[in-house]
Amino acid sequence: MIHTRISGTGSFLPGDAVSNEALIAARGLDSSDEWIVERTGIRSRHLAAPGVTSSDLAFEASRRALQAAGRTAADVDLIIVATSTPDYVFPSAAALLQSKLGNTNGAPAFDVQAVCSGFVYALTIAEKFIRSGSHKCVLVVGAEVFSRILDWKDRGTCVLFGDGAGAVVLEASDRPGLLSSAFHADGSHHGILSVPGQICGGVVTGDPFLRMDGQAVFKFAVKVLADVANEVLDAAGMTAAQVDWLIPHQANVRILQATAKKLHISPQKCMVTVDRHGNTSAASIPLALDEAVRGGRIQRGQHLLLEGVGGGFTWGATLLKF
Ligand code: ACO
Repeated sequence: MIHTRISGTGSFLPGDAVSNEALIAARGLDSSDEWIVERTGIRSRHLAAPGVTSSDLAFEASRRALQAAGRTAADVDLIIVATSTPDYVFPSAAALLQSKLGNTNGAPAFDVQAVCSGFVYALTIAEKFIRSGSHKCVLVVGAEVFSRILDWKDRGTCVLFGDGAGAVVLEASDRPGLLSSAFHADGSHHGILSVPGQICGGVVTGDPFLRMDGQAVFKFAVKVLADVANEVLDAAGMTAAQVDWLIPHQANVRILQATAKKLHISPQKCMVTVDRHGNTSAASIPLALDEAVRGGRIQRGQHLLLEGVGGGFTWGATLLKF
């Protein structure tokens, strides 16, 4: 049987950290550090400079992941980028990333659009390619510049998000790595989190900014994250007690705590980066993963439970042995 293992991780955050106070002052927001920290746990985030795109951030994260895996761009035979903020309508951020990396072997490259679940969706897809035997070395990236789709006059959303990218190299192996995955969607909830605009005839029509019903999102997120975590644990014949690290999508510290509690996983085993990164959508899970790997907290052989939820609504989880 062909297994799939993570052979390297990488990540990249643009520029300096922007504190809540600095953001409030720069954008003239009617808000406070106290409100933001209490409701979300967020203290700072990174924001890309004008002109810096998702594929730029993806390139930096990918370079680091390839180096950690001991691979070069020429070894990669499939590139998947999870993003809701691609550089262009087309070509895909994945195609642009391929060009920046100098991968010239004709590896297929495509984007996955599942908002904050994008990275888990992309992992799940990549694993199926590897397991089928068609591909051996897949670059899976989450990269976002959510700052581009924020309405800086909407204090209820603009304080929540940040920019960044994270990447993993997935390789075929004879040893188990990814143990079980699940992904789901329910489009009937499209109205509670969306960017309901488009380009039509050369102009933006509709509303090009992120809109959210925060409380509805909160309730939905906690329920499906617990459900999908149990689904992948059951599929692998494991229990939550066997999980060394829970790495959830970093939306809000209260969602992370509520999910860990529902799963009976101690808060100490729940990876938290939202305090320093904000919500980086599809980038948040691989950013948290890479930070913990490089910081020495995650060790080879440990069991990790990755899970995400996002607009659509979409959600999913992957259980793996690192
Ligand atoms: N600063 C100060 N006051 C604010 C701010 C702010 N930045 N934002 C909203 N408020 C005010 C509101 O205007 C409202 O004032 P009012 O009572 O005078 O009308 C008051 O605070 C309460 O607003 P609520 O929206 O009810 O606040 P709530 O406690 O629900 O917190 C929040 C809002 C933090 C967004 C919360 O609903 C939440 O965490 N939801 C989860 C959504 C989330 O994390 N989304 C991320 C994207 S989705 C994803 O990644 C899955």
